[in-house]
Amino acid sequence: MRLHEAKKDLYRRLAKEQGFKSRAAFKLIEANEKYRFIREGDRVVDFGAAPGGWVQAAAGFVGPDGRVVGVDLNEVRLKDENVATLAIDVNDPKVAEEVEGLLGGRADVVLSDIAPSVSGVWELDQIRQVDLTLRVLGLSETLLRRNGKGFFKLFEGERSAEVREEFRSRFAVVRVLKPAASRSASSELYYYCEGWKGVSTRPAIDS
Ligand SMILES: C[S@@+](CC[C@H](N)C(=O)[O-])C[C@H]1O[C@@H](n2cnc3c(N)ncnc32)[C@H](O)[C@@H]1O
Repeated sequence: MRLHEAKKDLYRRLAKEQGFKSRAAFKLIEANEKYRFIREGDRVVDFGAAPGGWVQAAAGFVGPDGRVVGVDLNEVRLKDENVATLAIDVNDPKVAEEVEGLLGGRADVVLSDIAPSVSGVWELDQIRQVDLTLRVLGLSETLLRRNGKGFFKLFEGERSAEVREEFRSRFAVVRVLKPAASRSASSELYYYCEGWKGVSTRPAIDS
C-alpha cells in the first residue's frame, strides 16, 4: 500500500469512529485548531458541503448558540439543531438570499471546499474549481460581515495566482496551508483568510 493510500485509510477510519460523514472533516479541524477562526455562537456558511463532514465539525465549534448553513448541489443529511442545509447550485441567482435567510444575518465565517466532479483532465478541473471559488468570493460580498473570516480550498495551477491576488485584495491577512488529511499528491491547497474588507479593490478577474 502506498503512503498516501495508508493516510487516506487512516482518516477514513478516524471519520467512521468519530461519526463524521467524510475524512475531509479533519482538514477543517486541523485548520481551526491552528487559527481558532470558528468560535462559539458564530454564523457559518459552508459552500460545497456534501456529504457534510465540515458542517458537522463547524456545528461542534459554534455550539448551540451558533448556526451553520451547508450549501451543495447534493443534499446534506444532518439533523443537528444548529444546522440548516440547502441543495442548490452556487451559480443560482437566489443562493445569497436563501443562505442569508437561513443564517439569520451576515456570516462570521465563509467556508469553501467546493470542487467539480473530476474529469481526469487536470487543466479543465482546475479552471472549473477556480471559477467555483471565484463565485464563492462573489457571494461573500453579500454574505460575509466586515472583518469576517474565510477558509477556502483552491486547486493549484493555471489561474490560481489570480485567485490568491483576489484573496489578498479582499482580506487583510491570507495564510496558506496543506492539512495532514489532504493527500500530499493532490494539488489542492487551503487558504485561511481574515479581516474581510468587503468589495474587492481590484477589477473583477473575469471582466
Ligand atoms: C470535496 S466535496 C466537499 C466535502 C465536504 N467539505 C465534506 O466535508 O464532506 C466538494 C463538493 O462541492 C460540490 N459542488 C460542486 N459544484 C457545485 C456547485 N456548482 N454548487 C454547489 N455545490 C457544488 C460537490 O457536489 C461536492 O459535494
